[in-house]
Amino acid sequence: MKQQLENLYKQTIATIEKAASIDELEQIRVKVLGRKGELTQILRSLGTLPQEERIETGKLSNELKDSIEEALEKRKIQLTQQHINKLIMEDWLDVTLTKPGLLQEYQRGHLHPISQIQYEIEDIFTSMGFEILDGPEVETDYYNFEALNIPPYHPARDMQDTFWTEDGNLLRTHTSAIQIRGMERLTPPFRVIGPGRVFRYESIDASHENTFYQVEGMMIDKDISVAHLIYFMKTLLKEIFKRNITIRLRPGYFPFVEPGFELDIQCLICGGKGCSVCKYSGWLELLPCGLVQPNVLRYGKIDPDKWSGFAFGLGLNRLVMMRYAINDIRHFLSGDIRFLYQF
Ligand code: DAH
Repeated sequence: MKQQLENLYKQTIATIEKAASIDELEQIRVKVLGRKGELTQILRSLGTLPQEERIETGKLSNELKDSIEEALEKRKIQLTQQHINKLIMEDWLDVTLTKPGLLQEYQRGHLHPISQIQYEIEDIFTSMGFEILDGPEVETDYYNFEALNIPPYHPARDMQDTFWTEDGNLLRTHTSAIQIRGMERLTPPFRVIGPGRVFRYESIDASHENTFYQVEGMMIDKDISVAHLIYFMKTLLKEIFKRNITIRLRPGYFPFVEPGFELDIQCLICGGKGCSVCKYSGWLELLPCGLVQPNVLRYGKIDPDKWSGFAFGLGLNRLVMMRYAINDIRHFLSGDIRFLYQF
């Protein structure tokens, strides 16, 4: 009987390994382990054996039965996997395919103009040794205001109407919050930019949005001066506008820089003569910036006696509006495909 069992076992395992479908496996299971199966019958006939042989053969049969069940399960997993792979190979669907003739070439998806300019700026700055940092859109009061030298009672908070969350956090009103996170993490000297989306509780019109995009920049090193700031800003503008740009600095107030500036560029439309775009001043306000306030360095755990730096905050919406002569900031988030197709 032992011999009979072992033969049955070997045979069964061989057919399981050769089985080509889950149906076939099921047939094998019924044939061997089913109610009238070959192994089941042997198990039933154990009673007729003398006790010693019965115990030994019983043990063996049970082991073989377990082993067959295991082999069935293993083969079943293999076959299922094969089946899935076959489906993937045969039935795959190219979801990027467009229906021929339905879509024009220009209607294919592409990056949003804000993303395009953001990536360009990232390239320009990484080529000058800047690292790109990210920061959360939901910020704490500390990173968005306090550590930027804007205490709770400071009037500068009025410049930034804020969306507060119920738990006392806020939607960051500027990417300057990334400066502090950068200083905490890095040891000087370093150069970073932090692109991102920012939020203000504004009433919306052609030049105001509640959601817009900025790129923050910060360079910390020994003896940084306004000359460094001007050099980097001029290089940035030259790369973006693909020509030399005349700039001027006006004093500007931001609690996190001292001195602080508004950087203007000579009007791209009239070249400084005066036109409706620059409101006949010859200049366009583009880039607030300055030398990092010592308190802000201290908040960032940087010793202001050893290190100094410049910072700037570039508004991307405005830059794209200038580049393409877009007259309404609301287009950017409108989702209007007719607007987007143009870029
Ligand atoms: N965070 C300011 C804003 O959103 C812009 C800004 C001004 C950033 C001066 C700077 C800076 O880094 O130095 O209005």
